[in-house]
Amino acid sequence: MAIKDPIRVGVLFSDTGVTSTIGHSQLQGTLLAIEEINESGGIAGREIVPHCYDAKSSPEIYAALAERLIVHDKVNVIFGCYMSSSRKAVLPIVEKWNKILFYPTLYEGFEFSNNIIYTGAAPNQNSVQLAEFMTANFGARVYLIGSKYIYPYESNRIMRDLVLQRPHSAKLGEHYVDLDASIKDFQPIMEDIKASRPDFIFSTVVGDSTTKLYQAYAEAGFSPKTMPIASLTTSEAEVSQMGVDVALGHFTAAPYFQSISSETNLRCLQRLQKRFGSDCVPNMCWEAAYFQVHIYANSFRSAGVDDIGQIMPYILGSDFDAPQGRVRIDTANHHTSLYPRIGICNSKGQFTIVREATKPVHPDPYMVTHSLGDWTASLSTLEL
Ligand code: ACM
Repeated sequence: MAIKDPIRVGVLFSDTGVTSTIGHSQLQGTLLAIEEINESGGIAGREIVPHCYDAKSSPEIYAALAERLIVHDKVNVIFGCYMSSSRKAVLPIVEKWNKILFYPTLYEGFEFSNNIIYTGAAPNQNSVQLAEFMTANFGARVYLIGSKYIYPYESNRIMRDLVLQRPHSAKLGEHYVDLDASIKDFQPIMEDIKASRPDFIFSTVVGDSTTKLYQAYAEAGFSPKTMPIASLTTSEAEVSQMGVDVALGHFTAAPYFQSISSETNLRCLQRLQKRFGSDCVPNMCWEAAYFQVHIYANSFRSAGVDDIGQIMPYILGSDFDAPQGRVRIDTANHHTSLYPRIGICNSKGQFTIVREATKPVHPDPYMVTHSLGDWTASLSTLEL
């Protein structure tokens, strides 16, 4: 007789704390995919049952809850984490118990674990294209601002190295603020920017303080037409939090924007709207959270189980028609082939895509073979 037991999976995002806006959207992307799979008969008739916990934007809580999911709830797979500090906290837990973490967030690269599948962008899929775009359109004198933890430190280092390859380039400043920074914390930085006049600002500020950065910028009287903020993390979710007036005209690089007009994306957005209404603001991390569950389910169907030894060969090399385009998990490095895009925030709080790859870019998390401006073979460019 076929096994009809439900399949338990762990879902570990932050519904409270400084990164809860994006964490909430990742949770909804995950739940939408699980419901789609269950509504179409589950996996060989077995229902997926998510065990969800709120990790409260704290790496220590992430680590404790990952262990609880594995030991108490008996899951083999966890979908979760936003900040790299939380992934770094969960990594030794999934390695110790030999389980799998699916991580749906862009990050700084330079990591590999046999126990992690990385479905957000590596630096060669967002930083490289953003550096090329910003330096070509605005100039190569950059000012770096970030939150105080590993992703901003490392991502700023990568951006600095990329920008400094350009002629007439300079790094004019580099500052870090606490994750709960206020507008006041950004004001001295804005004064320094006024004095040094960079061509663009690269922000690796994440979570709630993103709003404070863009507000402090607007209060300082700067114009995105001449000195925009470029980011890898300011998505539609952060824009909805800060308001369009301060986000308008700034740039973000990501493999997914809500504004993608493909059939697959439009259908997925309709289903999301039906399920969660306007409570969910789809963004790049929501999309990765969504498609990675389908990759897991398809691999489970082939393997028949989700024990790491048996399912991993099916996860690696698998592909899926995601809202951004057809994505594929790399067999060697566990990262994902994705479609780099650059968007400028428009008056509707959406991103107008100004440049996009028409073929996926292979993940190169250690930046071994990347070149400045790798859009793979063909690309399409819209006028600014
Ligand atoms: C991040 O911390 N990977 C956004």
